[in-house]
Amino acid sequence: MVSPEHIIAVGGGKGGIGKSVICTNLAVGLALSGKKVVLVDTDFGSSNLHALLGVKNPPLGFINFFQKNSNHSPSLLLETGIDNLQLICAAGDNPGSADINSETLGIVRDNIRNLDADYVFLDLSPGVSYAVVDFFNLADSGMIITTPELTSVMKTFSFIRAALFRRISILFRNQENLIRLVDHSDPTLADMETHSIDILKEKLSAIDPKQVLVVDMIIDSFRPCLIANRIRYEKDLKAGENLIELVKKYLGVEPVYLGYLIESDRVRDSVDEMTPFFIKEPDSTPANNLQNIIDAFSNAHG
Ligand SMILES: Nc1ncnc2c1ncn2[C@@H]1O[C@H](COP(=O)(O)OP(=O)(O)OP(=O)(O)O)[C@@H](O)[C@H]1O
Ligand SMILES: [Mg+2]
Repeated sequence: MVSPEHIIAVGGGKGGIGKSVICTNLAVGLALSGKKVVLVDTDFGSSNLHALLGVKNPPLGFINFFQKNSNHSPSLLLETGIDNLQLICAAGDNPGSADINSETLGIVRDNIRNLDADYVFLDLSPGVSYAVVDFFNLADSGMIITTPELTSVMKTFSFIRAALFRRISILFRNQENLIRLVDHSDPTLADMETHSIDILKEKLSAIDPKQVLVVDMIIDSFRPCLIANRIRYEKDLKAGENLIELVKKYLGVEPVYLGYLIESDRVRDSVDEMTPFFIKEPDSTPANNLQNIIDAFSNAHG
C-alpha cells in the first residue's frame, strides 16, 4: 500500500498546459534515481500517457475494470521499457469512456492506494470536476501546473480553491447548512457568495464557531506544490509569484513553489518522438529544470 505522501497527483485547471509531459518526465526522473515508480493515467476521456512513453496500443488499462465492473481484475501494470517504471493506462478514447460512475471511480482509487511502489504519479484530466479533484486529493499534496498566461493563472487559482473546498465539504457532508457554503456544484442550493476563506470563516463563526478551527486544520495540512511551465522570459516567473500571493490572500493556503520548465522545442520534439526528454536529452535545459523540480520536491518532503 502506498502512503498518501507518496502519491503525487499532477493537475491544473486548464487543458494543454503540460500536465502529462511534466508528470511523465518527473516519474522517469525518480525511476532513474532508483525509486520504484508507477505512472497512472487517470485521463479517461483523452488518455495519452502511454504515447509519451512510446508504449503503442496498450493491451489493457482501467477500461478493463469498467467493462467487467469488478474489482477482481488482473494486474493492470504494464512495463514501460524503463527500469523501475511501470504504467497503468486509462480507458481509451471511446465515446463515453470519461463518464464513469462514482462507484467505479472508488474502485479505481482503491486500486491506486493498494499499489506496491515508492511513488505513484497520477496524471489528471483538466478542469475542476469532482472526479478530477478527488484524484488530486488522494495525494497529501499534489503538484499543480500553470503557465504564465492570465487565463491559466486564473484557472490554477480556481483549481486550488476547488481542491480545498472539496476537502472541507467532505467533512461537512452531513451538515446541510454548512455544506452549501463549500459545495458549489449545484448553484440552486449553494451559497455562491462564499468564494474566499475569509468569507467562509465569517459565515461559519455565525453558524458554528468550532468549525473555523476544523477549516484552519484542513488549510494547514493542504500544501499544494506549484510548477510554472512554458517559461520564456524572466518576467514570466512573476505570474507564479502573483498566483502564490493570491492563493495565500484569498484561500489562506501556502503553496510550495517547486520551480519552472522553460518553453523549448526539445519538449515538443520529445512528444513527437514518443521519448521523454529526460531520457532523450538528459543534459538539456529542460532536463536540468526538471531535476531542479525533483530536488525541490525531495527537499520539501524530506
Ligand atoms: N515546456 C514546454 N515547451 C514546449 N512545448 C511544451 C512544453 N510543455 C508542453 N508543451 C507542449 O504542449 C503539449 C501539451 O502538453 P500536455 O499533453 O502535457 O498537456 P496537458 O496539460 O496534459 O493537456 P490535457 O489537459 O489535454 O491533458 C505537448 O504535446 C507539448 O507539445
Ligand atoms: Mg494530459
